[in-house]
Amino acid sequence: MKPFLKWAGNKYRIVEQIKKTLPSGGRLIEPFVGAGAVFLNTHYEKYLLADLNADLIFLYSFLKKEGASFIQDCKLFFSSENNNEKKFYEIRDLFNTTEDSRLKSLLFVYLNKHGFNGLCRYNAAGKFNVPWGKYKKPYFPEKEMQSFYYHAKNALFGCADFEKIMHSACVGDVIYCDPPYVPLSETAHFTNYTAHVFGVEQQLKLASLAEALQNKGISVVISNHDTDFTRKIYAKAEILQFQVRRFISCDGNNRVRVPELLALF
Ligand SMILES: C[S@@+](CC[C@H](N)C(=O)[O-])C[C@H]1O[C@@H](n2cnc3c(N)ncnc32)[C@H](O)[C@@H]1O
Repeated sequence: MKPFLKWAGNKYRIVEQIKKTLPSGGRLIEPFVGAGAVFLNTHYEKYLLADLNADLIFLYSFLKKEGASFIQDCKLFFSSENNNEKKFYEIRDLFNTTEDSRLKSLLFVYLNKHGFNGLCRYNAAGKFNVPWGKYKKPYFPEKEMQSFYYHAKNALFGCADFEKIMHSACVGDVIYCDPPYVPLSETAHFTNYTAHVFGVEQQLKLASLAEALQNKGISVVISNHDTDFTRKIYAKAEILQFQVRRFISCDGNNRVRVPELLALF
């Protein structure tokens, strides 16, 4: 099942590989849910799905609550009149200024499909600042939103930092973590999905929390790039290494093989 949002670091293409590493359990916790590729393609009895991006979690909560009527209201923004530069920036301004959280969630889907590369980026003031994507006819993900809605019946959503979510885990839960990637090289930048930056300190904190939960009998699986740094911080985990074909620069033709790992605590 394909996620309905475009999302950097989306795990849809490697979800089968990830599934093989996830043990069974009563509830799957995803502290970095993003577009939810793992959630949508697994069948746990219950889910706790969280992310620090409040716009994303509001959207999922409205979709879970309203289903079809919310999807139809989202669809209204996908018109040919709304697909030009002027309209895009008007809608982006509306998104950045409205205090109506339902409207903001509807517009988030429009921005995700009409903005450049489906990026989700905010400036220091927390304003969404992705430019127009110039797509001929952006796709409205009606079926994908419906599937998300059906699957979300057994899910709770939360907007919080990963530490708080992981601390709430109990024995019998399984945790899958897909944090923003560690840069592949010293010069690469960390990705900016929220107004906050996920740096070395957070990566170390996540690894030590995974170790602490493992000692309590709770399984944690973490996805990341395979680098000297991640090998060091995941030293207590079993490591599965593989290559992923990915576009890594602004040059859309630059598809390369990137080493990734799954750390099984
Ligand atoms: C690599 S993406 C997850 C991709 C997701 N697995 C998917 O398949 O679409 C990383 C996510 O972590 C979230 N994030 C960043 N910092 C966070 C934090 N401190 N706590 C929780 N979530 C955070 C971002 O908003 C982003 O959605």
